[in-house]
Amino acid sequence: MQGSVAVVTGANSGIGWETAAALATLGATTVLACRDRTKAEAAAVSVRDASGSPDVHVADLDLADLASVEACAADLLERFDRLDILVNNAGGIWSERRTTVQGFEQTFGVNHLGPFLLTVRLLDRLRATAGARIVNVSSFAHHAAVGGMRWDDLQAERHYTPFGAYSRSKLANLLFTRELAVRLEGTSVTANAAHPGPVRSGFGMDGDLGGIAGWGNRLVRPFEITAKAGAATSVYLAASPEVQGRSGGYYARSRPARMSVQARSEAAAARLWAASEALVTGAGFGLP
Ligand SMILES: NC(=O)c1ccc[n+]([C@@H]2O[C@H](COP(=O)([O-])OP(=O)(O)OC[C@H]3O[C@@H](n4cnc5c(N)ncnc54)[C@H](OP(=O)(O)O)[C@@H]3O)[C@@H](O)[C@H]2O)c1
Repeated sequence: MQGSVAVVTGANSGIGWETAAALATLGATTVLACRDRTKAEAAAVSVRDASGSPDVHVADLDLADLASVEACAADLLERFDRLDILVNNAGGIWSERRTTVQGFEQTFGVNHLGPFLLTVRLLDRLRATAGARIVNVSSFAHHAAVGGMRWDDLQAERHYTPFGAYSRSKLANLLFTRELAVRLEGTSVTANAAHPGPVRSGFGMDGDLGGIAGWGNRLVRPFEITAKAGAATSVYLAASPEVQGRSGGYYARSRPARMSVQARSEAAAARLWAASEALVTGAGFGLP
């Protein structure tokens, strides 16, 4: 992968760190896009050590603030004249309903709207890079969004549960991936989604998830896989020749996996794109 440029969001810890380390080991110029500069710099040092590659960089990205997303995209476009791999990995689950800087419910905002704006802002550079790949880290948890997206309450103002908001945000990752794949037809750019598996990472820890859900999250930790094993599917989609030219898929354990009926809806994918465009532009952020 010498000469290629890979950007991984949320690469300071967990699955993102492992994904970045693997791509750097494969020779890609690797950019860690993270919200905390101190954590990101420390992660860059450890990724350089682990990979043996000095070609590891940091970009500031807070997905809970679309102004930061816009600035990150501009920064990446300024610093790198190609973009071969974009791994939208960062995400979280939160006990309480919180809002982003622009007032969107945080799970929807951080897990979907931020990555949506980042990707769309980088799309021309991805299109200009032959064979570029977009990897969105979704989850098996999307199956729990049985009623699909709540179109009349996307910001969970009427009803909020942590797992409900999370599972719908992961469904949104799949719908976004599928619509991206449609819009990228006829180009050499692909978009696919990954389920990492149940991973022993910082996910839901650090006070993000309290109460019964927080206890449950801790109880299952001994049975979860390592972050390195969890990163394997993202790395496969980002780098393996086996998936060259394949787009619009959902993979777990580096194999095609079954999406929910909701995730397979072309109408929902198109509707989410339109809704996301309207929300982002309504908040004052232009789209190319
Ligand atoms: N762990 C699992 O079992 C599991 C299963 C299925 C899917 N996933 C998905 O895998 C992805 C990675 O999760 P993980 O397990 O590696 O968890 P993690 O260790 O908690 O990592 C999450 C990453 O996202 C970053 N992040 C959170 N909010 C952000 C924001 N506003 N702006 C930018 N970055 C932000 C975190 O940064 P900070 O360190 O600054 O908080 C961290 O780097 C997520 O999308 C998650 O939904 C995880």
